[in-house]
Amino acid sequence: MSLTVRAAAKINLQLGVGPVRDDGFHPLATVYQAIGLYDDVTVADASDWSVEVHAVDGIDLPDVPLDDTNIAIRAGKALVAHHGLERAASIRIDKAIPVAGGLAGGSADAAATLLALDRLWDLDTSDEDLLRLAADLGSDVPFALIGGTASGLGRGEVVEPVLDDGSWWWVVVGSGTGLSTPKVYKKFDKVSRKTRQPKISEKLLAALDEADPDLLAEAVCNDLQKPALLLRPDLARTFEHGRASGALVALLSGSGPTVLLLAESREHAHEVMAAMQELGYDRLWAATGPVAGAHQVTHI
Ligand code: C5P
Repeated sequence: MSLTVRAAAKINLQLGVGPVRDDGFHPLATVYQAIGLYDDVTVADASDWSVEVHAVDGIDLPDVPLDDTNIAIRAGKALVAHHGLERAASIRIDKAIPVAGGLAGGSADAAATLLALDRLWDLDTSDEDLLRLAADLGSDVPFALIGGTASGLGRGEVVEPVLDDGSWWWVVVGSGTGLSTPKVYKKFDKVSRKTRQPKISEKLLAALDEADPDLLAEAVCNDLQKPALLLRPDLARTFEHGRASGALVALLSGSGPTVLLLAESREHAHEVMAAMQELGYDRLWAATGPVAGAHQVTHI
């Protein structure tokens, strides 16, 4: 018997970052959106923990660990420990979310594994407990469970759905090499003069409520963009090319290096994608948002 759960990539429409806390994390005021790029996680009962990862759609798989340090196995073990069980599972990940891209692919896998094993073994874990286990695994794992569009406070783990009336189109521009999130935050610490706690942008919430792409283009912001560009100056060209290709705005996804181009419609997204292709970019996906959080797709 096996069970599959699908989980989406996330982007941050706002990523407001405050000064580093004593525990090494940064206080965030973020607005997450789940977009239509998915990893499928399939679990089955087994005598030992194992994970295998298969690439979908030409995704590169550098540095994805296949041992107990893989976040999906850590998620499974955390769930088993929470219920005081001694069980194990084999985990198969069909990965379409670019790795180390600022799209929270690992967090999607962790959220999907929690839900898949909860269903496979009929554990009936409460939403509250699932969200708590998710938060222990990573700052954006709780969002991967709920999906849609949501605000994130604390270190990103305190999530709350926000009103989003839009059906947004993004062109996702992947990069050949990943960027380490801790390194980007360290660079942020060096170059940022922020002393205040960040706040959720009212302008952004209004743009989402009004479903107005021009307003959204004006409101999106990411405090990690500057430090990420210092580490990866080549990304400045991707931003320029994105705007030259007709995108309403170019935005860094999370800590990067993926760049997001906002389009007005599906047709426009495909035009922007074609223009980027002409400029030599070949890691391109069109994705709509918001989409659902982790959800079961099959049980056989
Ligand atoms: O929570 P998560 O495991 O995704 O975080 C990965 C790393 O990103 C942390 O170890 C930390 O260096 C950085 N981080 C941070 N502040 C946050 C979230 C992540 O400094 N709010």
